[in-house]
Amino acid sequence: MNVSIIGTGYVGLTTGVMLASLGHAVTCVDIDESKLELLRNGHSPIFEPHLESLLNHVLPQMRFTSSYAAAIPQADVVFIAVGTPSLPDGNSDLKYLRAAATSIGQHLGTDFTVVVNKSTVPIGSGNWVESLIRDAVEANGDRIGDRICVASNPEFLKEGTALEDSFYPDRIVIGADNSLGLEILTKLYTPILEQSFTPPEGLPRPKNLPSVALVKTDLTSAELIKYAANAFLSTKISFINEIAELAEKVGADVRFIAEGIGLDARIGRRFLQAGIGWGGSCFGKDTAAIISTAREYGIGMEIIQAAREVNFRQRARVIEKLMFELKILKGKTIGLLGLAFKPNTDDLRDAPALDIGRRLIERGARVRAHDPIAMNRFKFEHSDSGFHLTESPETLFEDADAVVLVTEWQQYRSLGWNDIVPRMKNPYILDGRNCLDRALLLEAGAKYEGIGF
Ligand code: UGA
Repeated sequence: MNVSIIGTGYVGLTTGVMLASLGHAVTCVDIDESKLELLRNGHSPIFEPHLESLLNHVLPQMRFTSSYAAAIPQADVVFIAVGTPSLPDGNSDLKYLRAAATSIGQHLGTDFTVVVNKSTVPIGSGNWVESLIRDAVEANGDRIGDRICVASNPEFLKEGTALEDSFYPDRIVIGADNSLGLEILTKLYTPILEQSFTPPEGLPRPKNLPSVALVKTDLTSAELIKYAANAFLSTKISFINEIAELAEKVGADVRFIAEGIGLDARIGRRFLQAGIGWGGSCFGKDTAAIISTAREYGIGMEIIQAAREVNFRQRARVIEKLMFELKILKGKTIGLLGLAFKPNTDDLRDAPALDIGRRLIERGARVRAHDPIAMNRFKFEHSDSGFHLTESPETLFEDADAVVLVTEWQQYRSLGWNDIVPRMKNPYILDGRNCLDRALLLEAGAKYEGIGF
């Protein structure tokens, strides 16, 4: 099929590369010419495992353009995967979505086209996108007839494992109020649903994955599924973080609690990792947006509200723990291991490290930071942060009063503790992701503290 994708961010690019490797002809549209040039030359503008190598593999099947005229008329399916950042009131800023929908309408071909909202868009956006396309078609003196179907196909990929999640999802959700549109999308995803494609190099099919579930819904239900999924996952993490606080007080170990409840199939083990809480571009934005939408209907969404409050509190707890250990933060040197909001990405959006570092600087501390991948992006996006970046994780420990592990990069788990702990002025290490080997750290002379035990 001919597929066009508007927006080459995480979602758009990963989806494009995945669909191209299934054999579809993919055209990616973006307004950023420098990004398009990188992509044409096989370079990924974002760090995501396997993305660049797979991009190079499927490059002959992909086109990159800023021209809607080149991308839209021939497309069977158009994915809209543009950014929908948060506005101060929690609502999403839809200016990019509006521009994409209008441009699609201006260049719509004569054959049936499925326009798919892949971005996380507010509930009701499908209908709005359809009306924008209709307006643009009519402004051209044309009539839309039954040439389009607007569908929702929410994305569930996680940064850091975006391609695994795209090729081997738990389920695919497609929602539309038009049966031909649903049929076309089912056909597009058949290789994934039936797992009939040859796994790309480096991305082997997990054992016991004979097929993938397909959830077909109406348009609005698919839109709400996306918000409900992210709200539930955020709440699950905040739930275990709240239990972690109690576990600390009563002398229990939250890691046992997570195992003990997670093995109940009704609860499930994943997303019960206690620590300094969630960050990233999705959970904060989507929980704010669902609360804001619900408010319009007079619904309070108290559970999701509480999940957000617990999450903000996790960041404050890091500062409290440091104040308890160091008493005065002014003039103290504190190292942050990790800047990205999670490992295997260079994404810094709503990264806990930024918030924690800022709060420490406000209290007069000197903040050092290291990240194996995200430092270049950090220098570019946060040049005024006041953080001192260190080229190696080891340097971060030199004469430090405390070190906080913020992002659980694999390489931080096996640092040479016997060598680096003695170099600290005060050997306090706060393991914000409960991922370090406590015994090894104690043996090296560290004062080790985790979250929730
Ligand atoms: C999240 C969802 O997991 C995806 O399904 C969804 O598609 C995506 O948002 C989106 O809406 O685009 P993502 O934010 O990329 O994916 O990454 P996650 O793995 O969900 O991690 C989010 C945050 O939660 C990270 O800061 C991570 O450290 C934290 N986390 C995760 C925990 O603190 N504990 C856990 O047990 C799991």
